Amino acid sequence: MIVNTKEMLEKAKIGKYAVPHFNINNLEWTRYILEECQKKNTPVIIGVSEGAITYMGGYHTVVGIVRNLVTDLNITIPVAIHLDHGSSVESCRRCIDAGFTSVMIDASKYDLETNIQMVKEVVEYAHLRNVTVEAEIGHVGGAEDGIQSDIAYAKLEDAIKLVKETNIDSLAPAVGSAHGIYKGIPKINYELIETIQKETQLPLVLHGGSGIPDEIIKESIQRGINKLNINTDLQIVWSKAVRTFLQENDEVYDPRKVIKAGELNIKEIIDKKIALLGSENQA
Ligand code: 13P
Repeated sequence: MIVNTKEMLEKAKIGKYAVPHFNINNLEWTRYILEECQKKNTPVIIGVSEGAITYMGGYHTVVGIVRNLVTDLNITIPVAIHLDHGSSVESCRRCIDAGFTSVMIDASKYDLETNIQMVKEVVEYAHLRNVTVEAEIGHVGGAEDGIQSDIAYAKLEDAIKLVKETNIDSLAPAVGSAHGIYKGIPKINYELIETIQKETQLPLVLHGGSGIPDEIIKESIQRGINKLNINTDLQIVWSKAVRTFLQENDEVYDPRKVIKAGELNIKEIIDKKIALLGSENQA
């Protein structure tokens, strides 16, 4: 069932768990995620970055892959097709027109007023079409920018102002996590999560969900995180498995066998994350 993120995140807020957001890169990963989430009866957010959209062929191709797999595999859990880190109003509009059910407009690199203005424009367009919107405040940063020291923690007053003026559906405040591989243990500001959640009453999103110790994730959920974004962890286990498979089977040339070598490892990680987030049987 293809849906937006409204109901699944509201339910997660009430139930104090988090919905997994897994990034996709191709048809196979999409299938693994859908099959495993169906098995675990969890709602899921399929996250697609602009880079992945270009890689996979375009907005319509992504929507076609997700929607058709949902039909062909008889997927009944709630599935959202979500633009991850939309960099412009135009990009969000194109996703919405193609059939995405949720978009993130990431204007966190701009000043607050510009961020608010861009988010407003996206919300106006999205809500008329039953599409939910996530925004970022502060700046999460990380491997996407080449370094990990560029985290700008969210300011409470900025978060309140953005939420009040834009009517977004979920908020990703920078609270100490970062994208990519961590150097050391991330310092998550739990008080910041808690106060932003209390003041805004919105489901909060934690980006950079790979490589964070389980206890930190659990505590973050207790304080108000209802969506965890996971990408790198899947990439690491998949490439490791495929590398080993190719080293051990140098006569194999069928791409289906090569790509499939990482399937079980990806599914194993998905299972672990679902258990950690507490979203099993919440579909
Ligand atoms: P990781 O790659 O660190 O898991 O982050 C994913 C993410 O936040 C996507 O928005």
